[in-house]
This record gives sequence, C-alpha cells and structure tokens, in this order.
Amino acid sequence: MARAMVMHQAGGPEVLRAESVNVGEPGPGQIRLRQTAVGVNFHDIYVRSGLYQTLPLPGVPGLEAAGVVTAVGEGVSGFKDGDRVAYTSGNYGAYTDERLLDASRAVPLPDHVDDLTAASMMVRGLTACVLLQRVFPVRAGQTLLVQAAAGGVGQLLVQWAHHLGATVIGTVGSEEKAELVRGMGCDHVILYRHEDVVQKVKAITEGRGVDVAYDSVGKDTFYGSLDALAPLGHLVNFGQSSGSVEPMPVSLLARASNTVVRPMLGHYTATPESRDQAANAFFDALKDGILKPVPPVRYAFEDVGQAHTDMENRKTHGAVVLEV
Ligand SMILES: NC(=O)c1ccc[n+]([C@@H]2O[C@H](COP(=O)([O-])OP(=O)(O)OC[C@H]3O[C@@H](n4cnc5c(N)ncnc54)[C@H](OP(=O)(O)O)[C@@H]3O)[C@@H](O)[C@H]2O)c1
Repeated sequence: MARAMVMHQAGGPEVLRAESVNVGEPGPGQIRLRQTAVGVNFHDIYVRSGLYQTLPLPGVPGLEAAGVVTAVGEGVSGFKDGDRVAYTSGNYGAYTDERLLDASRAVPLPDHVDDLTAASMMVRGLTACVLLQRVFPVRAGQTLLVQAAAGGVGQLLVQWAHHLGATVIGTVGSEEKAELVRGMGCDHVILYRHEDVVQKVKAITEGRGVDVAYDSVGKDTFYGSLDALAPLGHLVNFGQSSGSVEPMPVSLLARASNTVVRPMLGHYTATPESRDQAANAFFDALKDGILKPVPPVRYAFEDVGQAHTDMENRKTHGAVVLEV
C-alpha cells in the first residue's frame, strides 16, 4: 500500500487528504517507484482549486517526482531495480510515496543531480529549456522581459538567458527577490508592485521595447508585457499565477506586428526524444554551472496544503518540494 494525497473534490488546500492506496505489480511497459521527493507546481494549485478540471476525481494530483525503481514490468528495457529516476507526468499521480509509472516517462538521473533538485525542477527546468530553445530561440544581443523573475521557472530563465548573452529585465514582487535575481545575472530589475513596468522597459531599451516577454503571471501583467514589446516582438504567456488573461482582440497585435503564444510543456515534450533532449539540456546546464538554482523550499509530505498556501501567497521563491 502507498500513502497518497487524494482529492475527492476541488477546493482549498484542505481537500488534499492522506489515504492508503493499492499499488500492485508493474504491468507491461511499467516500472514501480519508491518516491523520495515530490515537486509542487502552480499547475497542482490550478488542479486542486478546480481552475483546471483535468484530473478525474477522486484522484492523486502531482506532476513530477524522483525516486528509486523497485520493480520492472514485462518488456521494459533500460531500467532495473535500484536505478534512480525522475519524471514529469501528464497523467498526474505524483503526490504519493510509491506508484506505478509508464517506463517511457522516466528519465535516468545523473549522479550530479540530487533527488530534491530533480523532483522539484523537472517541470521548471524542462519548461525553461523549451521556452528559451524552441518557443522562442534566444540569441546573444537580444533583450528579454521575464515577469516573476524570482519564481521557480523565472530564476532558471534569468540564469540561462544571461548565459546565452541576452540582456535580461526581470520583474519581482519584493526587494529581497530583486537582490536574489540581480545575483543571478538579471541586468535590470523592476519592482512591479510599485513601478510602471512598461515605462521602465521603454526607458531601459531607449524606447524600443523587448524582443521577447516571458510572462507566467497572466491576468495582472499580460497587457503590460504586450505593451513592452519591440516591433516584431513576441509575447510568451506560459502561466497565469494571478488569474486567467482577459480575452484579447487579435487586432491589437497589428500595432507592432507582435505575436503571442501560449505554450504548454507537455506538447513540446510529447515524444521520448523531445523530452530527453530537454531533460539532458537541463541536466547539462546544471552540471556546467549555467544554472545555479537556490535549493528548493522543503516541506514534509503531509504538509502539502501548507506548501500550496505559501505558493499562493507568494511566500516562496524558487522551486518547492515535498520530502517523502
Ligand atoms: N506552460 C507550462 O507548461 C508551464 C510549465 C511550468 C510552469 N508554468 C507556469 O509558470 C508559472 C511559474 O511557476 P512556478 O511553479 O515556477 O511558480 P513561481 O514562479 O515560483 O511562483 C509564482 C510567482 O508569481 C508571482 N505572482 C504574481 N502575481 C501573483 C499572484 N496573484 N499569485 C501568486 N503569485 C503571483 C509571485 O512572484 P512575485 O512575488 O515576485 O510577484 C510568485 O512567487 C506558473 O504560472 C505555472 O503555472 C507553466
């Protein structure tokens, strides 16, 4: 039996309750995992609150974890008992201490990536990779706006884009977060609760605007991100931490021939090849010191509700992980 956080209905953090669930033996193509650490993402909050109705109920949320293989099903090659692995799963089910998983979802963990880092940063790391390499390939000399730059994905975007030779403008919600991202290579920091982001971006870029804006805040920042774009600039809206974006008239894009894209990691990592490419690029960027993420904020497995509350109240910076 596994200990899993099950939700029977959408609602506040209290709907996540520890229950015993049967795990069983792995079927063909599956592995069984004893999980050591589970990542917590904003996506989990959207699922728990009912904004995303993508988890059949009752169900176990959670998109990512790390652990050790304890059994291998028929036809599985490449994994054996005792292997360390991590995964991102579009089918949820990560909020548990033991589970069955399609082996095709698992990625072997290199020795230089510890379990807490892997569990808490697979989604964020692969997302940063996909955003910078495939959604909009960032080149030296370009200027970027990263909204919520001190967030889990935000920090990785700042560090990676800085390494690529781009000028990075980041927005943050507090002076403490400003200090953090300056140390990560953010060239200009805007405290977006007190300062006019568009005006400051225009001042920094001498009226031109940015080549690309990465915006995961959504409702509160989307139209500012659009106004901050240079002619032919791109708005990458990849999240909605402040709420869903109000509908936008497409004609607005004609002002400066801008584009808007709303990417989801799952679509860019749907095949094992595309997923492995992003995972390996992320692991290499950690090994080469391009990415030096602050250690994840740690919670006990039972305290998942508190982890959700703290994320919603903007108390965390960086990734968040449950220790199993
Ligand atoms: N599209 C995809 O495939 C994909 C994949 C991964 C993540 N995402 C999205 O990327 C975003 C960042 O994810 P994360 O897990 O790394 O979270 P996070 O950035 O660590 O946390 C969100 C941050 O957003 C800022 N924020 C601004 N307004 C907010 C509000 N009203 N409520 C809460 N936070 C607010 C806060 O920073 P300040 O205090 O500095 O304002 C907060 O720390 C999320 O929206 C997530 O859904 C999307």
